[in-house]
Amino acid sequence: MRAADLDAVVAIENVIYTHPWTRGNFVDSLAAGSHCWVLEYNGVIAGYAVVNAGAGEAHLLNLSIGAPWQRRGWGRALLLYVFDFINKNSLNVLFLEVRVSNAGARALYAQMGLREIGVRRNYYPAPVGREDAIVLEYKP
Ligand SMILES: CC(C)(COP(=O)(O)OP(=O)(O)OC[C@H]1O[C@@H](n2cnc3c(N)ncnc32)[C@H](O)[C@@H]1OP(=O)(O)O)[C@@H](O)C(=O)NCCC(=O)NCCS
Repeated sequence: MRAADLDAVVAIENVIYTHPWTRGNFVDSLAAGSHCWVLEYNGVIAGYAVVNAGAGEAHLLNLSIGAPWQRRGWGRALLLYVFDFINKNSLNVLFLEVRVSNAGARALYAQMGLREIGVRRNYYPAPVGREDAIVLEYKP
C-alpha cells in the first residue's frame, strides 16, 4: 500500500464498515512502518491488510475485501499472505480483534484455524452504545 492507493482504500473502507478507519489512520500506519498491503485484481484495488509486527508478535489491525469482491476466497487468500509473512519473519503469534456480531469474519477465522482466546468488553463503537471484541490468536 502506498499513499497513491489511499483513495481506493478509503472508498472501500467507507462502504464496508459502520465505523471506518479514516484516511489519517492509513497515513499514520504507513508513516509508522506498519506492514500495509493491497490486493489488486486487474489493476484495481479489491482489498487490503495492515499488520503491526515487533518483539516476536504481530497484530492484524485491518483485513478488508471490497463489497463487490467478497465471498470469492480473497479474504482467505489475504489472510494466508499474512500467515506467510508471520512464518517468513519467524514471528511467534498473530493477534487480532473482531466484533462479536461479525459472523462472516469469525467464520473465516475459525476456518483458518485462529483460536478465540478472550473478550474485550465494549471495545468497539456501535450504532447504539458499544460492542465487545473477540480476541483471536494464530500460532504458526
Ligand atoms: C471478512 C472478509 C475479510 C472476508 O473476506 P471474503 O473475501 O469475503 O471471504 P472469503 O471468500 O475468503 O471467505 C472464506 C470463508 O470465510 C467464511 N465467510 C466469509 N464471509 C462470510 C460471510 N459473510 N458469512 C459467512 N461466512 C463467511 C466462509 O466460511 C468462507 O468460505 P466459503 O465461501 O467457502 O463458504 C470480508 O468479507 C470483509 O472485508 N468484510 C468486511 C470487513 C470485515 O469485516 N473485516 C474483518 C474485520 S476483523
